[in-house]
Amino acid sequence: MTKAIVFSLQKGGIAKSTSSGITSFLLSKKGYKILHVDMDSQANSTQMLTEVDDATETFGERDILEAIKAQDPRTYIIRVSDGLDILPATDYLAMLDQFVFNEYTRKHRQKPGLALYNTLEKVKESYDYLIIDTPPSLSILTLNAMFASDYVVIPTNTEKFSYNAIERFLGTVEEVSQQKKDLIGKDIKVAGILRSLHDKRRTDNKIFSEMMEESYSHLMFNTVIHRKAATGRLPIFGLYDNSELKAAISEHEKFVEELLNNVQSR
Ligand SMILES: Nc1ncnc2c1ncn2[C@@H]1O[C@H](COP(=O)(O)OP(=O)(O)O)[C@@H](O)[C@H]1O
Ligand SMILES: [Mg+2]
Repeated sequence: MTKAIVFSLQKGGIAKSTSSGITSFLLSKKGYKILHVDMDSQANSTQMLTEVDDATETFGERDILEAIKAQDPRTYIIRVSDGLDILPATDYLAMLDQFVFNEYTRKHRQKPGLALYNTLEKVKESYDYLIIDTPPSLSILTLNAMFASDYVVIPTNTEKFSYNAIERFLGTVEEVSQQKKDLIGKDIKVAGILRSLHDKRRTDNKIFSEMMEESYSHLMFNTVIHRKAATGRLPIFGLYDNSELKAAISEHEKFVEELLNNVQSR
């Protein structure tokens, strides 16, 4: 059974794109068939996985927005490497709400949250995992990404604003999950909360990391991803010919093991 996993929290700069991109890369290296779905018009995980500098210039009108408009992603999927495909984002994805509210809901009388779900259904069974990256806000993009997912990974840094954001986001996941159950009989489960960009030397990081553990002990991934120069340089040196790759993603390997365990048991 294919599982769709979304990486989301209504915050920027908490390693959503880095974590989701590396997860797609590592799962494909393990032999799983992966479709990476980029639902953020900033296209950072698209850039990371395809090593393209300007996603809008390269993928222009062959992006995920067009796939959603066609309600069929088959001719828009790009093969990155063996076992790793991507539906790329571009700047144009910011116009998804126009399509959803003008055409999709009015003309086709569909629910606004299900545009991506219905698109991905056409290919879902050809993959082991769909990994979905999201924008930092709770927009129609994020709502569509959540409806299309079976599991949510909540990436966070170990800082106050993120700590505060988690509780509200968990409420949102529960609400969307209930709506999804009512509409199509399927729910959304939390796969876990992933701490990243953690700096051991900062006492406030340590404190918020511990507070997260106390508040959400049953939801935390044990693996904590530290702030590392090699990881920060991934957008420059990439995933495919990078002499410091091992150092950059060694902690993500442990996280991916935990993730596989959680989605197989939850
Ligand atoms: N473990 C890490 N160590 C150092 N820098 C990181 C790490 N993870 C992510 N980054 C960097 O932090 C910034 C924000 O990460 P990103 O994945 O783009 O976050 P988001 O998608 O949540 O906005 C990026 O510049 C990224 O390269
Ligand atoms: Mg991002």
